[in-house]
Amino acid sequence: MSASQVPVGGTGVLEVKNLVKDFTVRSGWKRSKLRAVNEVSFTLEPGKTIALVGESGSGKSTVARMIAQLETPTTGEIHLDGRAIARHGDALARYRHAVQMVFQDPFASLNPYHTVGHHLERPLKIHGVAKGDDLEPAVHALLERVNLTPGEVFAAKRPHEMSGGQRQRVAIARALAPGARFLVADEPVSMLDVSIRLGVLNLLARLQREENLGVLYITHDLATARHFSDEILVMYRGNVVERGPSDEVILNPQHDYTKTLLAAAPEPSRHGKLRDEVRAELAGNA
Ligand SMILES: Nc1ncnc2c1ncn2[C@@H]1O[C@H](COP(=O)(O)OP(=O)(O)OP(=O)(O)O)[C@@H](O)[C@H]1O
Ligand SMILES: [Mg+2]
Repeated sequence: MSASQVPVGGTGVLEVKNLVKDFTVRSGWKRSKLRAVNEVSFTLEPGKTIALVGESGSGKSTVARMIAQLETPTTGEIHLDGRAIARHGDALARYRHAVQMVFQDPFASLNPYHTVGHHLERPLKIHGVAKGDDLEPAVHALLERVNLTPGEVFAAKRPHEMSGGQRQRVAIARALAPGARFLVADEPVSMLDVSIRLGVLNLLARLQREENLGVLYITHDLATARHFSDEILVMYRGNVVERGPSDEVILNPQHDYTKTLLAAAPEPSRHGKLRDEVRAELAGNA
């Protein structure tokens, strides 16, 4: 099967049920338990975006890392299509195909010695999506899905020959390669120049809309959380303290912590300004 034929979207949901993560922290001889995530639950549907916001250290990345199987939950469960994640075998492989992560720093997540083509061929081969003569066209199709055109030109580049935004598009293409239905994007634009952030967020929005992708968008930026997500979850010290439709959470916050976050945020989170910028960008080159 070529990458362009990979079935995207799907009807099943990704459910996070009562996730808890405790870390053991040492200071000198003393050991203590730190609860980084406490009883977090939500359901991510295909074609929807949930934003996870909260101050530094509130547990957002730990939630992401548990979903991406980079940390094991202390308790709680993650279900895909109604089934708990298997510990091994084909079912675990299926989960890994379906749920992929995009990290904050695209430079760190790409090997400087390898071409973009090499980075994308690997997951296509490992996950059995394409092989042999199908590989090259599959790589080009992936690059074009993330607006890196012509695909053959970008396939030959190395990470340092691209801009930060282009590198993050490659990281997104690599996440899509196995046929991902859900993307966990942990601050995917916070290391990029402000001028190119909207382009990358618009790409995620287009994939979500046109390919029915479910996106968990982790961010400190309430303005983009509001404009790019259907629902916002506010985390504070490991707990989800407020949740709801994005406009409602931003325009009518109930919890004191959300109010404090909003008071500290720049004005566009409440105004229509960002929405206008997004519209202009979408009209231009989304
Ligand atoms: N491997 C670990 N061992 C011990 N403590 C950890 C570990 N990973 C995270 N923590 C702690 O768990 C808490 C939550 O961290 P996490 O990285 O999830 O926060 P975050 O909301 O993503 O923060 P930021 O916005 O700065 O990225 C923090 O207190 C952090 O120090
Ligand atoms: Mg983090």
